[in-house]
Amino acid sequence: MASKLSTLLLLAAVLGAASASRAIEEPSGRQLLQAPTSADCDRSVKHCTACRYQFYRGTVTKAICTKCDTGYTVKASGRACYCAPGYYTTENTAVSGQTGFTCIPCDYNNVCPGAKITAESSTAFAACGANKITTTQFAKSDRECVVKPGFGWGTGDTSAACDAGFYNPGYNTRKCTKCPGDLTTLGTNSNSTQDCQAPIGSYYLRGKAVACARGTYKTFVGNQDCTSCPTGVTTVAGEVGKTASSDCTVLLPGYQFASAPTVGTTDATECAQDSYRVGEVSFDGSTAVTCTACGNNLTTLANVTKATSPDACLAPPGYGWAAGGTNGAGVATLCPLGSYNPGYNREPCVKCGNGTITTAAPGATSADQCYTPAGHGNKRDAVSGVLEGYECPLNTYGRPNNTFGLVDVECTKCLENTHTNQTASTRASQCLTNAGYGYDNGAVNQCAYGYYNPGDNQNPCTYCGDGFNTTNSANATSGELGSDAASDCKIDFGYHLFGSSASIEPCLRGFYKGFIGNGSCSQCPAGTSTTITMAAVAQTDCDTCRPGFGTGTADGKIALGSLSNSSCSLCASGTYSPGFTQGGANCTACPTTQNFTGTMVSRRGTFTPEDCFGQFITDPTNEQTFTAWDFIYHPPGTNLTYKSLYTSLSACQTNCGLDNSCQYMVFYKTGGADGDGINKCYWRTVGTDISAIQITGDGTAAWWDNPTENIVLFEIKEGAYVVYPKVLGETIGVTISLIGSPSTTNFKAMRTACDLDATCIGLTHDIGGVWRAFGGSLFEDTIGKIRVVGTAINSWIAEPTGTEENEGWSSVPLIG
Ligand SMILES: *[C@@H]1O[C@H](CO)[C@@H](O)[C@H](O)[C@H]1NC(C)=O
Ligand SMILES: *[C@@H]1O[C@H](CO)[C@@H](O)[C@H](O)[C@H]1NC(C)=O
Ligand SMILES: *[C@@H]1O[C@H](CO)[C@@H](O)[C@H](O)[C@H]1NC(C)=O
Ligand SMILES: *[C@@H]1O[C@H](CO)[C@@H](O)[C@H](O)[C@H]1NC(C)=O
Ligand SMILES: *[C@@H]1O[C@H](CO)[C@@H](O)[C@H](O)[C@H]1NC(C)=O
Ligand SMILES: *[C@@H]1O[C@H](CO)[C@@H](O)[C@H](O)[C@H]1NC(C)=O
Ligand SMILES: *[C@@H]1O[C@H](CO)[C@@H](O)[C@H](O)[C@H]1NC(C)=O
Ligand SMILES: *[C@@H]1O[C@H](CO)[C@@H](O)[C@H](O)[C@H]1NC(C)=O
Ligand SMILES: *[C@@H]1O[C@H](CO)[C@@H](O)[C@H](O)[C@H]1NC(C)=O
Ligand SMILES: *[C@@H]1O[C@H](CO)[C@@H](O)[C@H](O)[C@H]1NC(C)=O
Ligand SMILES: *[C@@H]1O[C@H](CO)[C@@H](O)[C@H](O)[C@H]1NC(C)=O
Ligand SMILES: *[C@@H]1O[C@H](CO)[C@@H](O)[C@H](O)[C@H]1NC(C)=O
Repeated sequence: MASKLSTLLLLAAVLGAASASRAIEEPSGRQLLQAPTSADCDRSVKHCTACRYQFYRGTVTKAICTKCDTGYTVKASGRACYCAPGYYTTENTAVSGQTGFTCIPCDYNNVCPGAKITAESSTAFAACGANKITTTQFAKSDRECVVKPGFGWGTGDTSAACDAGFYNPGYNTRKCTKCPGDLTTLGTNSNSTQDCQAPIGSYYLRGKAVACARGTYKTFVGNQDCTSCPTGVTTVAGEVGKTASSDCTVLLPGYQFASAPTVGTTDATECAQDSYRVGEVSFDGSTAVTCTACGNNLTTLANVTKATSPDACLAPPGYGWAAGGTNGAGVATLCPLGSYNPGYNREPCVKCGNGTITTAAPGATSADQCYTPAGHGNKRDAVSGVLEGYECPLNTYGRPNNTFGLVDVECTKCLENTHTNQTASTRASQCLTNAGYGYDNGAVNQCAYGYYNPGDNQNPCTYCGDGFNTTNSANATSGELGSDAASDCKIDFGYHLFGSSASIEPCLRGFYKGFIGNGSCSQCPAGTSTTITMAAVAQTDCDTCRPGFGTGTADGKIALGSLSNSSCSLCASGTYSPGFTQGGANCTACPTTQNFTGTMVSRRGTFTPEDCFGQFITDPTNEQTFTAWDFIYHPPGTNLTYKSLYTSLSACQTNCGLDNSCQYMVFYKTGGADGDGINKCYWRTVGTDISAIQITGDGTAAWWDNPTENIVLFEIKEGAYVVYPKVLGETIGVTISLIGSPSTTNFKAMRTACDLDATCIGLTHDIGGVWRAFGGSLFEDTIGKIRVVGTAINSWIAEPTGTEENEGWSSVPLIG
């Protein structure tokens, strides 16, 4: 870089030196004269602009021209300027007012070689030739001639217009250039490659001409696209580069001319839906060319036009296709009931299935229109999967509505023991009970004993009522299941019609009924009863003894196999039985109570140990040392007889028993009433104070006419009474009712009146009142523990009498 810069500076210095004004130097190197001016030079040599003097021996001899004016050149001698190449002159064109000649520019499209060495002027100029030009006014030689745009160089000064298909931009010496890529020009004289365009029958593509494709044509040169044939029309197959609309002579498939067309201009129309036209066909415009209708109910796909083949003709939705038909495209017929076709195909209608599967109308288009009718079911063939519809058979039911689509539909079996009246039932409610069966918690079961249902309904079995069983046959002796009529209801085992109200009641305890139907309960053999409290159904239910009865058998068991009136017998005195021990039991010996160790007695047939008592004992008013008959009244004024011989309880008791005059005893143990440490036995004996209690004769006592206590007397037997204190407000035994209007303070009179009145069972007196008689029933337990022997009171041998259905012995009348 540094070396280049220094070179430039050096060059500038040299030029500066050269441009300094120069004086003419004489050859010797001395400066003699002013250098000649251009005017000087011109005067010396015409058109010279620079010259030098020539000296001879120091004298100027002549000026030697070194530089001529523009358009001139210096002759070799330096003594003349003549026309330079590119200039010429003619006498005629000499500049007016000037002598000699003047060189003028050669002018465009000519060539001026300049003057010859010998001539100072030149008239030589020559035109370049036809269609040749120069680019300057100063052309010096032929080589400066070029052709005009659109022309081609010829030999000599000839040239030729560029032919069509050629071009030349000119300003050169070339021949015309052929357009590239089979392009051509619109005419001759093309001066640019831009003029190269696609010829007719072809179009321009990236610098080349390409033949118009089939179905197009081009009638002119140009770079435009080819023109398409009219709609639906094309050119002959296999040919391209068509140049005229009249080449559009082939009708495309799927198009038609409804009437004779004009070739090249008439557009073809598309084959309408449901028609077609096959293949290309040449036409000459003389006739119409039309599409063919599909026919036979066939259609093309919706929205399909321009169909080119009968293959486009299909069975429409709801139609089935079959081969044949007038044009070989087949025939479509409406799908019959029970079949369908989605259509636009060449399939036959598809059967929904076999049997009763169907459609609402012919022409179904989808399997969804197939339906299994209400009350029908279907089954699917295992191999083919084809559904077969069928009416739901008896005792099944189908769906309530039609079921659309090829779906499995079952007939549902009615519940077990139900039936339908008809096939094709549609709901569960059509399943009716069989006779003798009833709904029961979601199932249908045979009517139980005591229930019935005539069937043909959806009800549970009807209950006959408490105490009923059912039989189905007139002679049935036991209950039967599955009854179907109210008349099958029979009074059950263990039940009977009771009373006028005809209500059904269970047999009472101790009774049984071993058959179905009307009839009464039978009583168990005397003394026996039932463990179950009611509704016994067989004599074998008499498996126990009544209260107060015992079996007396070795094992205590009742002899069930040979029941008789003596299977259970009354409990003897000194024993009791609560009864109802299953299987039976012996009577139980009365227990001794508290500290009493003497003989215990009881009424025969006693139920409970409370009714067991020490024999012949009573309760003294004081000093009581053992259980006494605490409600035996010991009336005032009665005395006990001291039996000093009997110092032990058993002796006191036994001897009282042996002495019929002894009514009861009182025994004081050691430390008794008088505290002398000696046991004492007292008797209440008949006759000792009989007037007080066994009132005979006219025995009267002031006390009895005005008792100082409320008392009750029960007549035990004629003339014999047992006396009780009366607790006001309490009843004694069952209700007793005062009888007889007479009332008196006279005890004797009152007693006589009672004796005469069969309904009188006792007398009563309240303090300060009068005696009254009363009637009613006496009860053993209220009579108490009184001994009656002969005319003496104290009997334990009263037998229960009368009938009873209830086991309450308390209700058994003792008297009357
Ligand atoms: C080339 O030809 C066109 C059309 O003839 C003309 O318009 C144009 O001026 C010509 N160009 C030259 C450079 O001669
Ligand atoms: C068109 O379908 C209808 C209905 O199925 C039928 O009756 C008729 O024959 C069909 N037409 C032809 C040409 O098959
Ligand atoms: C037909 O074509 C039109 C426009 O594309 C469309 O709206 C219509 O749904 C078509 N009809 C059928 C049946 O395909
Ligand atoms: C349907 O019925 C036709 C006759 O009607 C019978 O040939 C065919 O086997 C049946 N198909 C089935 C799956 O049952
Ligand atoms: C069955 O049909 C009845 C009457 O046409 C209609 O009210 C009911 O909704 C239908 N039931 C079903 C399950 O479609
Ligand atoms: C069933 O059939 C019986 C006898 O024919 C008739 O009495 C009854 O009403 C029918 N029940 C129904 C639900 O159809
Ligand atoms: C029912 O009993 C009657 C009379 O004993 C007899 O004639 C009839 O055959 C019996 N019926 C049946 C079904 O046993
Ligand atoms: C009805 O009769 C049957 C058969 O005899 C019996 O087993 C049943 O106990 C009876 N009573 C009831 C209420 O079932
Ligand atoms: C059973 O008694 C009822 C009521 O008294 C009566 O209606 C019915 O007919 C009697 N049955 C027989 C079989 O006697
Ligand atoms: C039942 O009483 C009888 C007769 O008195 C007697 O022989 C038998 O041993 C008693 N059996 C039982 C289990 O008490
Ligand atoms: C039973 O006798 C004993 C002793 O003799 C006496 O202590 C007891 O109180 C007596 N019991 C009754 C209830 O009298
Ligand atoms: C009862 O005994 C008392 C004395 O203890 C005596 O005064 C009275 O006379 C006796 N009464 C009779 C009827 O013996």
